[in-house]
Amino acid sequence: MDVIIVVNFGGQYTHLISRKLRELNVYTEVISCRTLKKVVYRGNVKALVLSGSPANVHSSKEDIEELSFVLNLDIPILGICYGHQLLAKLIGGTVKRGKGEFGRTEIRILKNDPLFKGWKHREVVWMSHRDYVAKLPSTTEVLAVSEKGYIAAFRLKNKPVYGVQFHPEVHHTVKGKELLNNFVEISGVAKHWKINNVVSDIVNYISETIEPNAKALAAVSGGVDSTVAALLVKKVIGNRLIPVLVDHGLFRENEVEESIKHLRKVGLDPIVVDAKERFLKRLWGIVDCEERRKIVGMTFAEIFTELAEEDPSIKYLVQGTTYPDVVESGRVERADKIKSHHNVAALPPWFKLKVVEPLRFLYKDEVRRIAKTLGVPDEIINKHPFPGPGFAVRVIGVFTPEKLRISREASKILEDELKKEGLYNDVWQAFAVVGDDTWVGVKGDSRDVGYIVILRIVASEDAMTADWYRIPYDVLDRISRRIVSELDKVTMVTYAISSKPPSTIEPC
Ligand code: XMP
Repeated sequence: MDVIIVVNFGGQYTHLISRKLRELNVYTEVISCRTLKKVVYRGNVKALVLSGSPANVHSSKEDIEELSFVLNLDIPILGICYGHQLLAKLIGGTVKRGKGEFGRTEIRILKNDPLFKGWKHREVVWMSHRDYVAKLPSTTEVLAVSEKGYIAAFRLKNKPVYGVQFHPEVHHTVKGKELLNNFVEISGVAKHWKINNVVSDIVNYISETIEPNAKALAAVSGGVDSTVAALLVKKVIGNRLIPVLVDHGLFRENEVEESIKHLRKVGLDPIVVDAKERFLKRLWGIVDCEERRKIVGMTFAEIFTELAEEDPSIKYLVQGTTYPDVVESGRVERADKIKSHHNVAALPPWFKLKVVEPLRFLYKDEVRRIAKTLGVPDEIINKHPFPGPGFAVRVIGVFTPEKLRISREASKILEDELKKEGLYNDVWQAFAVVGDDTWVGVKGDSRDVGYIVILRIVASEDAMTADWYRIPYDVLDRISRRIVSELDKVTMVTYAISSKPPSTIEPC
């Protein structure tokens, strides 16, 4: 399949670039510049986009060296922000430190160019830079300048290699999507990343991957990713797919019963393994969250191995891993490992079943669109994402039954109140976290020492970036009152108001 490669220099919006291109029906892959050489000659790479970065070109000799070969490639390139400055350096231009431009900025288009088709002489874009391209060689032409006179866009005269200082991928750049579409047109990439094609490609992949007569276990949790993954595999291998729901004791309140009901509705009647004791016994007392993830991953692996030992024709394990899980677990080279997502990085080396991950190149919104085409009920599609290790990653510090109970019960109150207010579907995730800190309270005229519950409610499009949700104060007040009055051993509620980045969504 034709692809546009988004070269990831760690910019906050890298995934947004990729998702915006996919909305234009173009298949994208996000990779590091060190991996670029390995994939760029595959024949299907039609263009490159160089992302932004928290780094600066003065201290990025390595990126410049790694990337120098791209100018010899005969494909269009679009450098964005840091990518723009990197390209300028590569072709012999100068980048300097300036006062910078942040947020809404007006630019003037100086030249008619296919990249700016549909743009007026003046347009509003979104900038976020301090360094700027100060000088360019005569092989280039400047296409646009900003209010402050900075070069806002340039191109090489003899080929479609472009730099734009602003961010076309953010929606504050009024004609950003048009610009990305113009770049797609310039690249000539086939626009066949449409949900129907994606589904048929996945189905082909599954048919080619799973041997005839072999069986596959599908780890289902009742969430949209694992449900869609299992349904797609079931389309190909029918009853040779065995859905399994492992109850690790870390799910949300009543979730197991509800999931079973929903899964049956879509024709997945799971084997339910009650492994609560097995997981929890290993987790009590563990302080380090990464260790808990590893324990959860390993215990899952043991259980699936035991099931497979009962029937030697079981050769595969189907998981609903999605693209952000893969990137954040550090499986994409040079993407820093943020957390060992239990399903990607926490499987032990001795695990023998072959892992099938039909959704590993998809974002959640794409999975949700596929779910709709498969007739998955809204209760599954709209359910908030939930980490595989569940509440094991929502307790900070030592893991105890009491803290597990509090985070689960407080989360239930939070979800119920959001549902009552019609806000549940507005937010990406909403849950309660408990740490070791306590607060002295007074309940019924006597001293009471209880835990501090942290509420975390975030808005996000793909979990790669997120912002804290601006919840109305009266709703927050009601949630907080209910939590302190209904839950034992809770004397304070706080609200987590850091975005991702720099924080992550889950506490650990
Ligand atoms: P963070 O906390 O890294 O989370 O901002 C990003 C998204 O991933 C979910 N998450 C996980 N999902 N296994 C999963 O299946 C995991 O180990 C895991 N850790 C985090 C998290 O809920 C959020 O939606």
